[in-house]
Amino acid sequence: MILNKGQATALLREHVTDTYQRLHAQMVATAMEGYAGIYNEDKDLWYVTGLLHDIDFQEYPDQHPGPSLGWFADWGYSDDLIHAVEAHAYGYNGFDTLPETKLASALMAIDELCGIFYAYQKLNPIPYGEMKAKSIKKRLNESKFAPKIERESIYRGVEHLGVTLDEHIDNMITFLARLDQIMEKKWQLPPIEKAYEAMTAVVSDRVELVSPTEAKVWSSTRSKYYEVSYDTENHLIMSNDNSAYWKVELGYPAIAYLIAAGHISVETKVMKPIANVPWKKINKQYKNSYTIATAKVLDDLDPAEREFLIEAAEMVTAKVKELDLGLLGKRKFPPKGN
Ligand SMILES: [Fe+2]
Ligand SMILES: [Fe+2]
Repeated sequence: MILNKGQATALLREHVTDTYQRLHAQMVATAMEGYAGIYNEDKDLWYVTGLLHDIDFQEYPDQHPGPSLGWFADWGYSDDLIHAVEAHAYGYNGFDTLPETKLASALMAIDELCGIFYAYQKLNPIPYGEMKAKSIKKRLNESKFAPKIERESIYRGVEHLGVTLDEHIDNMITFLARLDQIMEKKWQLPPIEKAYEAMTAVVSDRVELVSPTEAKVWSSTRSKYYEVSYDTENHLIMSNDNSAYWKVELGYPAIAYLIAAGHISVETKVMKPIANVPWKKINKQYKNSYTIATAKVLDDLDPAEREFLIEAAEMVTAKVKELDLGLLGKRKFPPKGN
């Protein structure tokens, strides 16, 4: 049975590309995990149920959640999860199954309320954990506020779950405070030139995997190394290089780790032509105009090699964007030396 959070995250990313839908999935999953804690239930099952409850919505809005019920069975998920996903759609696309379990009731109570929290944050950009229950309740009672949100579904869910609306809103604020931490910061995307630098580091054996989620990435002079760590499940990464520290921009060491650890796959032979390119020196030579420095390096290559390499750099950049990486903990001061 697949109940792994990492695998569920991969499935979500495969079927849902919409940024809001991904965020909604994460909000619901985080709140579900919170309730699993209160009721002493299986946290992973509850999280995964929340994460995947709308997995077919983007592809099949008119049949949702019908197609996904079949997928879950194929993927080996439990009947419990399938029932919960079916019941959250009560009154929608012809579905009329009411929640019969705590898992299903919690999903129903949480789902639409996450929409209220989200809309409230658009209006009043404070962290979820700092929201006041009173303000949320007020908005919930205003039918003109986020009018598409089905209030009935929230009330029905709360009733089935056996909590009052006030308790539920208080719980949601506590649960979503955890999401604040996760969502607090996202990395700025690096320019494509960083992908070349990263590939050079990988193919010059400067990435030393300490564990599947940690690496030392040696500088081109090999006089110091940057430390990279990765949270595979939540797509959070940290590296103590200069771009990361000073610009909150993903630097080459993090990208090099992602390639070396197989999160982004690039063929070694494609990277070979830029092995041991002294990027730092060349960048300096061109007054840190990375675009010119990179063009200069690429100019010297065989045209076929160059083409594959450009293609790879574009793919790496797109993939980094797709991973939608957040900061893993606090930024760390870069090491001294060259
Ligand atoms: Fe849904
Ligand atoms: Fe939903």
